[in-house]
Amino acid sequence: MKRVVFEQTGPPADVLKLQDDVPAPQPARGEVLVRMLASPVNPSDLMYVAGRYGLTPKLPATPGFEGVGVVEGTGGGLLGWLRKGKRVAVINDRVGNWAEYTVTKARQVVPVPDDLSDDQAATFFVNPATALVMTGAVLDLQPGDWLLQSAAGGELGKMIVRLGKLRGFRTLNVVRRREQVAELKAIGADAVLVESDGPLPEQVKAAVPTGVRFAIDPVGGKTASEVIASLGQGGRCLLYGSLSDDPLTVHPRFLLSNAVTVEGFWLGAWAKREGALTMLKLFKQVRALMRDGVLQSTFAATYPLEEVKKAVEHAAAPGKGGKVLLKIGTR
Ligand SMILES: NC(=O)c1ccc[n+]([C@@H]2O[C@H](COP(=O)([O-])OP(=O)(O)OC[C@H]3O[C@@H](n4cnc5c(N)ncnc54)[C@H](OP(=O)(O)O)[C@@H]3O)[C@@H](O)[C@H]2O)c1
Repeated sequence: MKRVVFEQTGPPADVLKLQDDVPAPQPARGEVLVRMLASPVNPSDLMYVAGRYGLTPKLPATPGFEGVGVVEGTGGGLLGWLRKGKRVAVINDRVGNWAEYTVTKARQVVPVPDDLSDDQAATFFVNPATALVMTGAVLDLQPGDWLLQSAAGGELGKMIVRLGKLRGFRTLNVVRRREQVAELKAIGADAVLVESDGPLPEQVKAAVPTGVRFAIDPVGGKTASEVIASLGQGGRCLLYGSLSDDPLTVHPRFLLSNAVTVEGFWLGAWAKREGALTMLKLFKQVRALMRDGVLQSTFAATYPLEEVKKAVEHAAAPGKGGKVLLKIGTR
């Protein structure tokens, strides 16, 4: 089979290569063998390959934390047997999905409805679940609450805008490209700020004079520092990414005099702490909201595995305008 590998961490377009004649992996007990159909290039995949992620790859490694495929075999166990022959979303933090065949735990494959396209099913977990969990289980946003979010024009940011519209929390969105203002307003953003228009605390105060209590940031550096400094009394900020790769600067006096808290959020760690029932409920919600379009992704381009270098270069380009998808097989 074909698979993408890297033998050392570094810039993805430099270190990734295709192997085209390797044996398919063997599922152990409790695991399934999946024939992959498609897998997105997410920021977490790029950071993992670059050696800048919370998981350290055991080299040589194959990237690809999520995707869609068909279960073709099992290493034993009831759940694997039940999943055999099904088209499933594949969550994989062990072997990697950028390959014609992969293995993962049977409980990490989720059957997807027939009417969901392979492209959407490939992005079933990482962003949709993060959008639901951060705004629901973690921040518990209520109708009328304001949520400040940076990188709002990305795929996850747009899901959160649409969730806000559906659930009644209001989104105050920060983007770095002005052309995204109209796009976000069209999908229900309550307000959109452009980073280069001035310091965020001033822009946020002008937009919501009563103050904002909730914020989420995947950028870090100057952007996250300003997002935190924009919060009002009792404010709470979730940091869920490090796109700029820069550290924060926050004055302790601001945090203590305003009783502001700053927390990290990582879906993988959250999911490991939760029981099977919570995860089943979450998958059910994702299925329904994907069908309704709320948690759908848009796609900028698709590439075959052979063009993985082009795919990762495209995925890292500013203003790419949607997910980049690796098309691996057909149903
Ligand atoms: N913690 C978790 O469990 C978890 C789960 C899912 C996702 N995430 C994180 O969520 C973030 C967004 O994911 P995604 O799939 O939505 O990515 P995406 O579709 O690639 O969108 C990324 C967005 O971030 C913007 N951006 C990139 N670098 C930036 C910078 N230095 N300053 C300001 N804006 C910047 C991009 O702006 P342009 O459009 O102008 O390029 C784009 O709008 C990533 O950091 C990802 O790792 C975390």
